[in-house]
Amino acid sequence: MPDNFEHEYFGIGILHGKTPENLGVLWRTAQNMGASFIYTIGKRYANQACDTHKAVKAIPYFHYEDFADFFKHLPKGAVIVGIEQDQKSVPLETFAHPKRCVYLLGAEDHGLTKEAIEKAHFLVEFQSEKSLNVAVAGSIVLYDRNLPKARWGSKTK
Ligand SMILES: C[S@@+](CC[C@H](N)C(=O)[O-])C[C@H]1O[C@@H](n2cnc3c(N)ncnc32)[C@H](O)[C@@H]1O
Repeated sequence: MPDNFEHEYFGIGILHGKTPENLGVLWRTAQNMGASFIYTIGKRYANQACDTHKAVKAIPYFHYEDFADFFKHLPKGAVIVGIEQDQKSVPLETFAHPKRCVYLLGAEDHGLTKEAIEKAHFLVEFQSEKSLNVAVAGSIVLYDRNLPKARWGSKTK
């Protein structure tokens, strides 16, 4: 493992996801981009045909009943990075990804809830005319994380 990935990890999941196929696509990206765990909040879909790399057997899969349950059981020291088009969101291109974080995507129809937006430690977005498919959005963010750029907190930790 390269030195710059030392003491880093991330998980990614969807809040109230509606479409099982999207989860399969997201799990496949997550596994291939180095996620330590994947999760769902509110709706459980462990196995999907699109998860052809069987991510749910290869990395831990967690399920949370609701946002409060998820928030209460965050890994110690990890922060939430909400992925959403929002007034408070910062551009992904210049975002310094936290070393240890949990990426949170919103539902296909309504996006992230107000509660999730308020409680997320960071909010990021990327330019798109209209919102993209949730699994595609998650894949873009993970691709960006793996680019060789600074991590938030990397000077102090
Ligand atoms: C189809 S979008 C949700 C619909 C959107 N919130 C709306 O009401 O128009 C599903 C999810 O994909 C992610 N997403 C899609 N496009 C995005 C973008 N340009 N920047 C950040 N996240 C995006 C967000 O997590 C969003 O909640």
